[in-house]
Amino acid sequence: MSTDKWILGLCLLTLVILWITRRSHSSRGLAEQLRGPKCSSWLYGHIPELLFSEEYGDHEFQWQEKYGPVYPIQGYFGGSFALRLSLAHFYAHPIVQESRLVISDPSTVKYITNSGVFAIGPSQEKAATVVFGRRNVFVVRDGDHRRLRSWMNSSFSSNSIRTLLPIIRDTATKLVDRWEALGFPGNTVDVSGILNDATLDTTGRAILEYHFNALDGQSDLAKVQRGMLDTLGSPTKFAQLAAQLADATLPYIPDIVLRYVFELPIPTMGMFQEYKKLTDELSLRLLAVKRKRQALGKNQDFISSFSNSDEGSGDDDFGVHLRTILVTGQDTTGGTLGWVLYKLAEMTDFQQQLREEIRLTRPTEQADYNAMPLLNAIINEILRMYSSLPLAERVAVADCILPLSQPITTRAGANISELPIKKGQCVYVAIASYHRLASIWGPDAHEFRPSRWLDEKPCKGQALGPYASLLSFFGGPAVCLGWRLAILEIQVIVVELLEKYVLSLPPADNNRLRTRLAVTLVPETLDGKRQIPIHIERVT
Ligand code: HEM
Ligand SMILES: *[C@@H]1O[C@H](CO)[C@@H](O)[C@H](O)[C@H]1NC(C)=O
Ligand SMILES: *[C@@H]1O[C@H](CO)[C@@H](O)[C@H](O)[C@H]1NC(C)=O
Repeated sequence: MSTDKWILGLCLLTLVILWITRRSHSSRGLAEQLRGPKCSSWLYGHIPELLFSEEYGDHEFQWQEKYGPVYPIQGYFGGSFALRLSLAHFYAHPIVQESRLVISDPSTVKYITNSGVFAIGPSQEKAATVVFGRRNVFVVRDGDHRRLRSWMNSSFSSNSIRTLLPIIRDTATKLVDRWEALGFPGNTVDVSGILNDATLDTTGRAILEYHFNALDGQSDLAKVQRGMLDTLGSPTKFAQLAAQLADATLPYIPDIVLRYVFELPIPTMGMFQEYKKLTDELSLRLLAVKRKRQALGKNQDFISSFSNSDEGSGDDDFGVHLRTILVTGQDTTGGTLGWVLYKLAEMTDFQQQLREEIRLTRPTEQADYNAMPLLNAIINEILRMYSSLPLAERVAVADCILPLSQPITTRAGANISELPIKKGQCVYVAIASYHRLASIWGPDAHEFRPSRWLDEKPCKGQALGPYASLLSFFGGPAVCLGWRLAILEIQVIVVELLEKYVLSLPPADNNRLRTRLAVTLVPETLDGKRQIPIHIERVT
């Protein structure tokens, strides 16, 4: 007998026991009554199609076309009503009680990001706690979140970021030196890894005033962080199975058990321990150095303002926040840069025009970079089509009524103009799907077309996010902390590279990349390698 049947048998038994003990079951929200895709796996529900499809969005974008901007899918175990009911009964965890909603409707998204009724979802909460530590900015709520953000966001404000321009330009110069040293010009090479080194170096110098020197390959911490992120997003079948298993089971594992698991003497866990050790050491060192110097006056930088804020009472917590910005700022920004370079290599005419724009502008101030239409058109179109975090998982912390910008017809044929849901309802804010709504971005929403950003108003709806009406950086009080830094960094590095190099795709027919979700949205060659192969020549 197969394992599936064993499990099914167990479930039926559970159901019988349940029926005998007969406790009352809480009523469900309306989510279950909406139309959505049919479930193909009783064990995994729709999750593999949503998170682990070969090309990101393979199913999700079609579901959106068919069912509109709000529809339910089944979570793990969700295809089996019996199993779901029994789990929900014995293990009163929100994630098993209802199907999950996939949401890209702008009014609904706005409510989720701004109302305060939603917290980070159970799988992402556990994952963030494992990697960063307890009480990180992703998981704390309400007053705790406000306090943490009012400390953290001061060094990410527009005034602070403007002063970082020289540092960012310096990293860009180092990146160019590195390309030269590695013999990139004249060759076809994978540019992706080095971009991630550059973004880590920028966060280090710009925010922590610390030189990781990841670009020089000298930093142990950078290597361990790389190893850890590569393991978490590894392309092997085994790793994907493990990721799926982790996504399914993490919400149910108590923190205390999880902590023991991470102390187990196995290589993967060893890497997490090493990373924690190195980052904790670094954070104490950085705090000590600052304190010594601080007698000289009140500084407003990241570390000083931590010591001065309410958060500063626990030095141990600084490591948590250090890990949070180092990890969150690296592959998101590096990946976006990678996509920009790849698309420029593909669109050689556009690349030539952009080089001309750079030659005419010779940007030196942040305002100069912002005033370059072609530069920002390509960056914005990449952020729209290749959002590094295409989905945000959220859970309702109270019963609430979701507003809808257009009515939905339920399975029973009734039209509803708002959607009551129960506390514990899990939702995905479908960032990538939102960026493909024809009602917002026009009939060619699915097409990669940077020139749309040269038009009057490419986004036909209200702005949900902080930048260019895009949702790429999320919105509301938990909006991305580092969006200004990310944009400036991408602008500066693209300009620096295009001034010096002509990019083109390798001659092989096999130079198409696909998008794969591996923590962030990463480029993958069709034979499954995490690479961006580009041919590089010096500008003559
Ligand atoms: C192109 C680059 C980036 C993209 C697309 C991006 C996107 C996002 C998104 C979608 C979220 C919300 C995630 C969620 O709550 O589920 C987020 C949050 C966050 N991002 Fe970014 N990010 C980028 C760069 C950065 C950088 C450079 C930093 C810092 C150095 C950073 C730090 C953070 C932090 C700390 C949060 C949590 C904010 C909170 O919960 O209050 N990000 N980002
Ligand atoms: C920083 O966070 C606080 C608290 O959430 C908020 O009031 C303030 O507007 C934020 N500032 C910026 C520049 O985002
Ligand atoms: C619901 O709306 C659709 C489309 O707008 C319409 O065709 C249908 O008749 C409506 N159904 C009811 C029960 O009002």
